Amino acid sequence: MKKLKIINVVGARPNFMKIAPIVEAMRRYEGIEQVLLHTGQHYDHKMSDLFFNNLGLPKPDIYLGIGSGGHGEQTGKVMIEFEKVMREVQPDLVLVVGDVNSTIACSLVAVKMGVKVVHVEAGLRSNDRTMPEEINRILTDQISDYLFLTEASAEENLLREGIDKDKIYFVGNVMIDSLMTHREKAEQQPILDELGLQPGHFVLTTLHRPANVDDPEICTSLIETLCTISGKMPVLFPVHPRTRKQIAAFGLEEKIKAAPDFRMIEPLGYLDFLKCMANAAFVLTDSGGIQEETTVLGVPCITARENTERPVTVTEGTNVVLGRDPGRLLEEAEKILQGKGKNGRRPELWDGKAASRIVDILWQKEARA
Ligand code: UD1
Repeated sequence: MKKLKIINVVGARPNFMKIAPIVEAMRRYEGIEQVLLHTGQHYDHKMSDLFFNNLGLPKPDIYLGIGSGGHGEQTGKVMIEFEKVMREVQPDLVLVVGDVNSTIACSLVAVKMGVKVVHVEAGLRSNDRTMPEEINRILTDQISDYLFLTEASAEENLLREGIDKDKIYFVGNVMIDSLMTHREKAEQQPILDELGLQPGHFVLTTLHRPANVDDPEICTSLIETLCTISGKMPVLFPVHPRTRKQIAAFGLEEKIKAAPDFRMIEPLGYLDFLKCMANAAFVLTDSGGIQEETTVLGVPCITARENTERPVTVTEGTNVVLGRDPGRLLEEAEKILQGKGKNGRRPELWDGKAASRIVDILWQKEARA
């Protein structure tokens, strides 16, 4: 029987929903031995375990327990520990997803040990090198052997950077595979009743990008904008730990408390968040994945960033990328509340089958007798 041994790497919250359908698809191949490795970049129950439970992911086979730290420290610690694992496990392939520090750290270790790297969600570019994720994306793509794309535009980015066309495969979006698998179950969650919110009559927001929450002026301005929006409709704000710290440091809690209906809550699990997203009047965010999920759900999305690495959400989806100017954000919010929000359609190959395509290609190309 043919065989293939693969380490699947996860580290931070947005990785979990991307790996879940891949783990599932690999289970269908008797010859694939998969090892699930969690670096522990995210470690809080609500940033990690809850997602494993919600997504039905198995407990990681290997947990590195790296935790937080500066970029160098975090990336370096993952590399040191991952190298030991590589020596022991000796996989044929290392599969990484997305653009977090764990993604580049494990890819770099693998390629130097002569093991092929598979990058899922390759080729996305914000063209903003001040974003830590942009550096992770560019470098991971340079050393990957298989580059799986979520959107067609990513191919041009990779070809421009000298990547061989033979390594590139447009397969669709594994994050949307997860969304489609869990959509029905999410709809049954009682979270809106528990919060006393009506479907279609609240705004959902998330903010965590360093460029938005680490600068006191920008962070204050965004929070003030959300306070204003909460005068028109309740605003629900599940807060990332990084953002909670900054809100406290900049003394913004009082503003939030004084706002008409601005609810700052703990981070939500995958199913609860999906339910909230699907039922929001609109979403205001700086997340990458949420731009894609709202496009598939048909919910208007305002992105409070200067750029997006996921242009198909704008050209075909419900996303508008507006920067941080309060006037522009409030104008768009008003437009949406008057029923004039952007309509969109589902991008090509976002059909729930991306993970199957990926595993099929890997098996065809790499399984050995
Ligand atoms: C990381 C990713 C980012 C992704 C985000 C999703 C990088 C460079 N960034 O950013 O691309 O969008 O995850 O959340 O990899 N913290 C906790 N508990 C946790 C995790 C983090 O309290 O479980 C706090 C710590 O104070 C930590 C801070 O959040 O210092 C930031 O965590 P870190 O993993 O460095 O980056 P994120 O901002 O989460």
